[in-house]
Amino acid sequence: MEKLQQLYEGKAKKVFATDDPELFIVDYKDDATALDGLKKGTIMGKGVINNRVTNFLMQKLEKEGVPTHFVKELSDRETLVKKVSIVPLEVIIRNISAGSFAKRYGVEEGIVFDQPTIEFSYKNDELHDPLINTYHALALKLATKEEIETIEKYAFAVNKFLKAFMLENNIDLVDFKLEFGRLSDGTIVLADEISPDTCRFWDHTTHEKLDKDRFRRDLGNVEDAYKEILHRLMGE
Ligand code: TMP
Ligand code: ASP
Repeated sequence: MEKLQQLYEGKAKKVFATDDPELFIVDYKDDATALDGLKKGTIMGKGVINNRVTNFLMQKLEKEGVPTHFVKELSDRETLVKKVSIVPLEVIIRNISAGSFAKRYGVEEGIVFDQPTIEFSYKNDELHDPLINTYHALALKLATKEEIETIEKYAFAVNKFLKAFMLENNIDLVDFKLEFGRLSDGTIVLADEISPDTCRFWDHTTHEKLDKDRFRRDLGNVEDAYKEILHRLMGE
């Protein structure tokens, strides 16, 4: 597999073409941003950890019946994935109040919900990823009704698996963000990443934050939190 020209550089990853038109290579960076890129920094070793953790979880999700873009881990930071066009919706599932939910509705963090919630943001940095409902998404032609139904079904399936799997490792899955893509034939698959950048993980016993909130909120020990997640999930 030959790595060809860079197609795209995002805040945390780069995407490269390959000699197969249906395959891309993603390359995970140590760069970290928050507040729509306003806050910038480096989390040493993050790219390696997010690559490994994402691939590990995506392979497990495939077995649970959630199709993903994952093809093959190529190196510490590089993964071969199926070419998708990203559906410009950030899909957020929450099990416990935190972050923008707590702020928006004026409640404390840490309220355990009876049922998970789902919400969508329009993936658009200039507009600050505004919250959007499914009617708005349809009006803006971001996805079809069928695609949104499929995305919701997969997102809840990810939550069911991931919540239970994290708890086996004494971690509460507070909330997380997913992105989906369309293959050339229109099939919806899970894309992007599932990592401490895109999930809130709290230690079940101590409630210690083991995710990017340590960077967003300047809590210190950011690298250690990422390493702890890698260690608990993969024993490394
Ligand atoms: P929020 O509480 O700030 O809306 O975040 C909800 C979840 O989404 C949290 O697990 C972090 C993740 N997230 C991203 O992956 N990317 C983002 O740009 C934002 C704002 C949140
Ligand atoms: N990655 C997002 C940004 O830089 C925000 C976040 O994860 O908090 O805007």
